[in-house]
Amino acid sequence: MTIMNFSNEDFEESRGHMQNFPSVFESIKDLNKVQIDGLLSLASKFKGFAHDWQGLPIPFIKRPIIATSFLENSTRTKHSFAIAIKNLGATYIDFNADTSSLKKGESLEETLRTLHSQGVDLCIIRTSVSQEFEKFKGNAPIKIINGGDGTHQHPTQALLDLFTMKEIGMELEGKTISIIGDNLHSRVSHSLIDLLPQYGVKVILCGPEQCLPKASEIESPHVSLSHDVDEAIAQSDLLYLLRIQKERHQGEKTNYYETYPEKYGVSLERLKKHNKVIPVFHPGPANVGVEITKDLMESPYYFGYEQVHNSIFMRMAIIQAVLQNADKNLGIQFAGRKVQDLK
Ligand code: CP
Repeated sequence: MTIMNFSNEDFEESRGHMQNFPSVFESIKDLNKVQIDGLLSLASKFKGFAHDWQGLPIPFIKRPIIATSFLENSTRTKHSFAIAIKNLGATYIDFNADTSSLKKGESLEETLRTLHSQGVDLCIIRTSVSQEFEKFKGNAPIKIINGGDGTHQHPTQALLDLFTMKEIGMELEGKTISIIGDNLHSRVSHSLIDLLPQYGVKVILCGPEQCLPKASEIESPHVSLSHDVDEAIAQSDLLYLLRIQKERHQGEKTNYYETYPEKYGVSLERLKKHNKVIPVFHPGPANVGVEITKDLMESPYYFGYEQVHNSIFMRMAIIQAVLQNADKNLGIQFAGRKVQDLK
């Protein structure tokens, strides 16, 4: 990787691309293509500077305070945001939901207002509730980045995936990517199908019936469905594998679990059968031996660790973009109030 020379002008260019970046970044649909390209460019600049975070000429607001609040488990997203925050020289608060007043019945909104009143500028939140941040968009209690909400969206994952695809030299225009696995319950899949077609990619969602949306629910002409994994692999330029998300299957038919590895699992042997020399992505966590075999994960085709590595740079770019934006739509502003002012 070439080490780039940084200047404030480089950052100024990125600032221009990301004007009007949302204060509550919930979904890929919240961004326009100029902003997405701006993030790709900024992440690349951050990656080029990875040898010397101390020297970053970041036009940041002074000493931002950034919290993560993971109300659902995470290894990759939480820790890469924590590292990104530290690389940017910001103060990091690891908000622990289990020991917080959320456990006494305080709402998420009130919790976020409280953090903002303490001086926290931005909170990165993961929640099991789909579209939980929608209600904050008009009157945000604090700046928010969605770290994954239920089955709805995981926009920072999709952006780091796009960054990685480009970074490893994929030409995306006209290519086909199969997302194989539990697409129906995957927030990653939902973000990818909003993002990849913007770069000329055709997407095949592949899996058993219980893991796919209905054909009538597909809005994009660039997205199709398949139950045949070998057919999907044969057509693909990249495979994106997903785990079966059992924690979201309450009350659903799960009789396909047992036959899944044989019918839909991808192995080195299966790739070779199709003479495919193509990258295999996985957002993690992987269930080894179910949707992916160990030999494939240890092969040169597997790019899961590049995805994890690049997550730092893309998440630095996203934090920068959210923070550089003015505090528009932010709720409660009470600095300087006096009792004499009450009416
Ligand atoms: N890809 C992803 O979101 O992983 P974690 O659940 O470990 O954060």
